[in-house]
This record gives sequence, structure tokens and C-alpha cells, in this order.
Amino acid sequence: MRPGLMVAVACCFLVGVVAAPSAAARDGELKVGYYDGKCRGVEGIVRLHVVRALAQDRRTGAALLRLIFHDCFVRGCDGSVLLDASDENPRPEKSAPVNIGLSAFDVLEEIKAAVEKRCPGVVSCADILVYAARDAGRILSDGRVDFDVPAGRLDGLVSSADEAQAEIPDPTLTLQQLIDNFARKNFTVEELVILSGAHSVGDGHCSSFAARLAAPPDQIAPAYRDLLNYKCSRGADPEVANNVRDEDLATVARFMPAFAGRVRAVSRLDNTYYLNNLDKVVNFNSDWQLLTGDEARGHVHEYADNGTLWDHDFADSLLKLSKLPMPAGSKGEIRNECSVVNRR
Ligand code: HEM
Repeated sequence: MRPGLMVAVACCFLVGVVAAPSAAARDGELKVGYYDGKCRGVEGIVRLHVVRALAQDRRTGAALLRLIFHDCFVRGCDGSVLLDASDENPRPEKSAPVNIGLSAFDVLEEIKAAVEKRCPGVVSCADILVYAARDAGRILSDGRVDFDVPAGRLDGLVSSADEAQAEIPDPTLTLQQLIDNFARKNFTVEELVILSGAHSVGDGHCSSFAARLAAPPDQIAPAYRDLLNYKCSRGADPEVANNVRDEDLATVARFMPAFAGRVRAVSRLDNTYYLNNLDKVVNFNSDWQLLTGDEARGHVHEYADNGTLWDHDFADSLLKLSKLPMPAGSKGEIRNECSVVNRR
């Protein structure tokens, strides 16, 4: 976060008085292979657990991908999104409205426990989260989205719902607001478009796109709006697939027969998001907003036309996201458990 743009944090949590290591990364820069010689095989342990979790439920992959964004955009990649509410800090990031639907915390805690068994007190939850998100992306894309993860992050001591609410973009934002939000983290319009492509997988609550249910046809294909209205009428704020491809075939055949042919691969991370967007078949207002400006719309076309380019650029943008540092001067630690700061 740039100095001067730091939001007023109403509720922060600083534990104990004993000095913890300072700076975003241990030993200076993040490094690929950071745990070689410190905790051999750590990436293999993470991978094993992620493979298992996705074999049980592929949707866990989308949850892990979303977590890297929601962690790194608030106080850098420091595992602050993983902290539970406590007496000292009743409103951590997790409780922010903008963090609705975050999940896969149990998978990360399970990985952390396995890693602690092998090398206690060495590997941060922040690093585990990035490894797991990278692995999820690789599996969901059949290996097409991949990158080496530089590691050596520390786990943060601060987690504030107000700060998350201020930093994570809301789906009702306009294109300019989205661009400004990403620019604050030094991300370009192109990177906004690239990273939004993560919405080719996963789900969203109907409350996250309520206004889309009555949006005019130039913003959402009427047949898709009907489909969403039908889905959203079936329960109290149910979740709906982000990608029409992942919807159940019967519903798609009923409302959008022309799209039934696209219902093929479930939870596949790919450039279908851009094809859907050009067809006005996306859930969030923030997705549709990308068509409202020349530069962003140009990139939507670019990635709709070239899936291989998107795979590559998405991996690069995730890597950049994973390097967002903690605020200067922040204290960090290696948590014993990902959901609580260590007692001192
Ligand atoms: C550009 C601004 C963004 C906005 C406004 C936004 C908004 C949202 C919203 C509202 C949801 C649904 C939450 C719910 O109702 O449960 C969602 C889901 C999701 N988002 Fe984003 N998002 C953005 C960018 C990103 C980025 C950069 C990533 C990852 C790189 C990402 C990955 C995901 C994934 C994978 C899901 C599905 C999660 C699941 O199924 O568990 N989003 N997003």
C-alpha cells in the first residue's frame, strides 16, 4: 500500500510486545527455492494436499485462487486473510462483507499441520497460501498456468475487516474505480483484465450481482439474466457458477440452448471468461464494466482471441500479485497455526 493512501484502520490487532522479525520477507528478497536446506520437500507436501483436495472437490481450486488475491491485496501477501476472529480482534479481514464466500481455510490449515510436522516453525502460512494457489491454478488449467514461486514471506500480525473492505474491489465498482483500485497496487488496466479472467472458475452469491438481475440487455444477455433470476429464486442467496459452462446442463439447455454446447469442462481455468464477457454472459457488474472502456475492452478481445497468451499472462500476473509486500516496517512471524497469531 502506498504511504498516504493507507486507510484509517479502525480495528487493528498487534500481539504482545516482543519484537518479531521486521520487513516483508525474511533474509531480504523473496527467493525461488527459499526452503531448500530449510524444509526440504515443502512444495511437494503442499502439492499433494492440493491435488487431494481438488480430487475431492474441484471447486476448492477456485477458492484457493481467490484467496491469493484477497490476501495479497490487503497488507501484501502475509496470510492476514487467514486469521480468525478472537477476543483481541473480533473483526479480522475474514469478517469483511467483501470477503463473502471465502473458503478453503481448512485445506491450508491441514497443509500447515503437515508442514509443521516435517519442519516446525520454518514455513510461513503466507508462503503456503501462494504455493497452494499456484498449484490450484496449474491443476485447473491442466498445467497451462504455472510459475515458480519465490518464497520467504512472513505471516502478519494485523488483520482488519475495515482495511479489507477498503482495499478489495467491490463488484459494484465502475471501470474507473476498478482501474484506480488496481493502480494503487501498481497493477495496469491490462493486468486488471488478465486477473479478472480468474472468474472463468468458481461461484458467486446472488447478492454479489443483485443489480445484474434487472440490468438492461446492453449489459447482460436477457436469456442469461433469466437463467440467473431462475437460479437465484431457488433459495436464500444461493451460489451460482461464475461461468455458464459450469452451470448444470438442464438449466442452460432450458434458458440458453445455444450455449449448451459450451457445458463441457467443469472448473477449467481458461479464457472462456472473455468469450462469455463479449457475449454479455458474466455475473458481476465488475466483469461487464471491462467492456465499457476502449483499453480494457481491447484486452478482453485480445484474450478472447488468444487463450495461450492469457495462460501465460495470467501466470505472470499471479506471480506479480504474490510479490506484493507487507507495509514498510510491519512485524511478522511464522505462525504455528494459520488462523491465529502466536502467543508470546
Ligand atoms: C477485479 C476485481 C474483482 C472483483 C470485483 C471480484 C469480485 C468477486 C466476487 C463478488 C466474487 C463472488 C463472491 C461470492 O459472492 O461468494 C468473486 C469470486 C471469485 N473471484 Fe473475484 N473479483 C475480482 C478479482 C479477482 C481476482 C484478481 C481473482 C484471482 C486472481 C479472483 C478470483 C475469484 C475466484 C476464483 C472466485 C470464485 C471463488 C469460489 O468459487 O470460491 N477475483 N470475485
